[in-house]
Amino acid sequence: MLNAKVHQVFIARILYIYAFILKYRYMKKTVILFGLLATAGFIRAQQPLYKNAKAPIEARINDLLKRMTPEEKAGQLNQLNGGIFTGPAANDPGQQAKIAMTRQGKVGSFLNVTGAEETRAMQKVAVEESRLGIPLLFAFDVIHGYKTIFPIPLAEACSWDVTQIEKDASIAAKEAAAAGLHWVFSPMCDISNDPRWGRVMEGAGEDPYYGSVVAAARVKGLQGNLNDAAHVMACVKHFAAYGAVQGGREYNTVDVSRVALWNKYLPPYYAGVKAGAATVMNAFNIVDGVPASGNKYLVHDILEKKWGFKGFVVSDWNSFDEMITHGYAANRKDAAYKALAAGSMMDMESKVVVDYLPQLLKEGKISMQQVDDDVRRVLYYKFKLGLFDDPYKFSDVAREKATEFTAAHRMEARKAADASIVLLKNENNVLPIDAKKNTAIALIGYYAKSKADMFDFWIANGKAEDAVSVLEGMKEKFANSNITYSDGYLPDGSSNDALIDNAVATAKNANVVIVNVGLTGKLAGEDRSLANPAISEGQVALLKALHATGKPIVALVSAGRPLVLTAIQPYVNAIVYTWILGTETGHAVADVVSGDYNPSGKTVMSFPYAVGQIPVYYDHFNTGRPLPDSGDLNWKSRYRDIPNEPLYPFGFGLSYTTFHYGNLQLSSASMKKGSPLQVKVELTNTGSKPGYEVAQLYIRQMTASIVQPVKALKAFQRVYLQPGEKKVLSFTITDNDLAFYDGEGNVHIEPGAFKVFVGGNSRDVLEKDFTLQ
Ligand code: NOJ
Repeated sequence: MLNAKVHQVFIARILYIYAFILKYRYMKKTVILFGLLATAGFIRAQQPLYKNAKAPIEARINDLLKRMTPEEKAGQLNQLNGGIFTGPAANDPGQQAKIAMTRQGKVGSFLNVTGAEETRAMQKVAVEESRLGIPLLFAFDVIHGYKTIFPIPLAEACSWDVTQIEKDASIAAKEAAAAGLHWVFSPMCDISNDPRWGRVMEGAGEDPYYGSVVAAARVKGLQGNLNDAAHVMACVKHFAAYGAVQGGREYNTVDVSRVALWNKYLPPYYAGVKAGAATVMNAFNIVDGVPASGNKYLVHDILEKKWGFKGFVVSDWNSFDEMITHGYAANRKDAAYKALAAGSMMDMESKVVVDYLPQLLKEGKISMQQVDDDVRRVLYYKFKLGLFDDPYKFSDVAREKATEFTAAHRMEARKAADASIVLLKNENNVLPIDAKKNTAIALIGYYAKSKADMFDFWIANGKAEDAVSVLEGMKEKFANSNITYSDGYLPDGSSNDALIDNAVATAKNANVVIVNVGLTGKLAGEDRSLANPAISEGQVALLKALHATGKPIVALVSAGRPLVLTAIQPYVNAIVYTWILGTETGHAVADVVSGDYNPSGKTVMSFPYAVGQIPVYYDHFNTGRPLPDSGDLNWKSRYRDIPNEPLYPFGFGLSYTTFHYGNLQLSSASMKKGSPLQVKVELTNTGSKPGYEVAQLYIRQMTASIVQPVKALKAFQRVYLQPGEKKVLSFTITDNDLAFYDGEGNVHIEPGAFKVFVGGNSRDVLEKDFTLQ
């Protein structure tokens, strides 16, 4: 290698001198060109290999690693906040210090620096002012869109439209990439059964199978092949089991069994990794008593070894340092050691790696080989994204302007929002309301008007003023009608007599009353845990008073989580769960209220009957004393004051048409390992409107070495049927669908008796028995 290089330099020099002589003797253009080419060759020969765009990535990384000091290697594993704070600002060194560190090669990545110009300016410092000129990675929480804000991930998951979900992620990536970003902290793959936890809004609900399908779609949409400036690196988070925080309280303890870890919590992260996610983020919580950031079992044993993850692991905000507070690391140096030893790599915000890695190397606590392996992974993505060859590839002001918030993106956001809405109740077909007719509509509720409440906490660079409010969307759609508006309650959801009286007066003049209740968007996201995720007393009082007018009442419920709706049931004829829908909220709500879009969403989290029932989820175990439907209920697993069942089960959602399931057939009553079983069911649209139905297939293994859930989702199909149309749906059950993990992560497929269920939600199903030989 070295010889070849010396040789190259030698030839280049000879040619250069030769060209010079020729230039003076003949002064011909061709000769000048020859001279220039030789000069270029000479310069190239002088260039370090890592800067040679034609050399293979591996060779470039090896060359660069050889040139780096331990401090510069530590720098590549250091990520600092460069913009808005999405965590505690306690140890922030200030902008000037961050720039100085960048110049010294002590920063590998920034989070929260966004915008083509801003990223370009910071990149310039790294590339043009640091010794080796290693480009930075820019990362940001792009959770459901960058400028065009899509429905919150939980809502979007209720569409069960995986193609649309992938498309939404690709649009978010495109807008983010045009704003100079290389990396987004998404998808969140945390399974959760707890609507007290404010972050359920970021996930895909309670089911591990569905969560896996969605995780893979989101990773694919975000990353593409990572070979253009329209895609970004994804980050599977929060590894692992963050959705199981006790009591739904943010940053709280997690204590789950290994069986639950493997079967319930790990599958979506695994699906994201298998889909090629470039990065994985540690969780804040402990698992088996060890903080996830320093948890060797999670990071080294499972992620690296068992799953063969080749990307890099980033901490959560300050989570390396927080291992001290957890009581797992003695000091900052120990925290750096424990994080790196576990296999975690990049340090977000706690600066323990940049401060102590060189010392740990010197003391022989961490090997140079391990450090090189960690740094290699980070550098790999910088090369793969093409940043060494064009560090400003993503920071393009013209592309940024042309790409963000386009009409095409907004149209997709509207489609996604339409499909995210879940119709939970529709007594006497009070909905839809025909927009062609002139109807007197009372639209009540502060959140219907407040644009900020169309958004949650994670809105990237979305702007509230760009959102279409419910009031605006309704006025546009119902241009022939008379819409009168009244606040009904205050921005925090509380109410008073004056507001209620005013709303009642408005309602009295209307044919139908639409009331937007729920939570302010500000209560969805990180650090938004609620002990009582229910409709506020003020809003319940408002609904009660409106109900007393005798008018039909439609409740639009907006929230980033399922709320306990039991208290409002008696006062409303329809419940439209609108979650938080982003930019196109008003259009989508009006599409559904008018029937221009026939609602098709099905909830991916159970709606609790009461707060005390939480966690309530469909794929629970049978217990030794399950509650029978009738007969002797004594000494059974039950509540004395409420039903065991949720108010609305997983997979539930109504349509303006009706669907009938019939004639469930299996290809055989006994399945052999290795030969799949065919399941067929007839689905008929028995109503009068065309619409989508999400047919769901569940399985239960009756007896196994580890007890199995009473139902576990294994497949689904989203189908469109015209009125009267019948389709035969076919599903294939393979060994894989019957597999489960033990606590060591070994896969079991055990012979025995099974049940298969098919239906439009997890409760109302047809069933058949079969055995596995
Ligand atoms: C903390 C959150 O847990 C994580 O999801 C997010 O990506 C980081 N902060 C960065 O904002």
